[in-house]
Amino acid sequence: MSAAPMIAPSILSADFANLAAESAAVGPGRVAGDRGADWLHVDVMDAHFVPNLTLGLPVVQSLLKATDIPLDCHLMIEDPGTWAPPYAEAGAYNVTFHAEASDDPSAVARDIRAAGAKAGLSIKPNTPLEPYLDILRDFDTLLVMSVEPGFGGQSFISGVLEKVRTIRKIVDSGALNLVVEIDGGINADTIEQAAEAGVDCFVAGSAVYGAADPAQALAGLRAQAASARTHAH
Ligand code: DX5
Ligand code: ZN
Repeated sequence: MSAAPMIAPSILSADFANLAAESAAVGPGRVAGDRGADWLHVDVMDAHFVPNLTLGLPVVQSLLKATDIPLDCHLMIEDPGTWAPPYAEAGAYNVTFHAEASDDPSAVARDIRAAGAKAGLSIKPNTPLEPYLDILRDFDTLLVMSVEPGFGGQSFISGVLEKVRTIRKIVDSGALNLVVEIDGGINADTIEQAAEAGVDCFVAGSAVYGAADPAQALAGLRAQAASARTHAH
């Protein structure tokens, strides 16, 4: 498990007309003793894989010029084999797509890595982990969804933590080298159970950008996760 819990604020809950300022609001140097956002989580939705539409490559390209925070692009889209590699070419740090959307996730991961980014695989709450265990060696991140993808502000589904516990054990055994990330419904009431289950990186949208002081909210979430993890291990 990485040294300190990572926090990835989701700009889905930010002001889309002010993304440069919204990314700066969670950057380093805002809260004493906290390093700020580790990754900026960018939710790309195509109105086909999920029933919602957000933003795409042109916005990501602009955002890359506006912030130094590594971009964690979460592609909730069909045909990631075609559409995912360009995010890597543009300079995203991590490009994650959905297992449910691809017939050959390893091939997509290879293309993402060849284009210079980390590759992430995401699974929806009802998607089992087991069928993907063999291909996870081709990935750098596993993104476990703890809400149905599509919208911010939904309630955390704690049943997915069983998948987190399983992958945590495998990673800790040294069999896989993965960042275990969770996305959906993470807030002050839920982050501790996710941390105890073994999450490395926590996406938080409404809990960060819905707060009066996003950087302070982020720091508070990290402190809770760190303390819950200490008690769990
Ligand atoms: C939902 C997105 C999430 C969303 C999380 O489909 O993948 O990243 O922004 O929002 P909260 O933290 O409000 O559940
Ligand atoms: Zn997301």
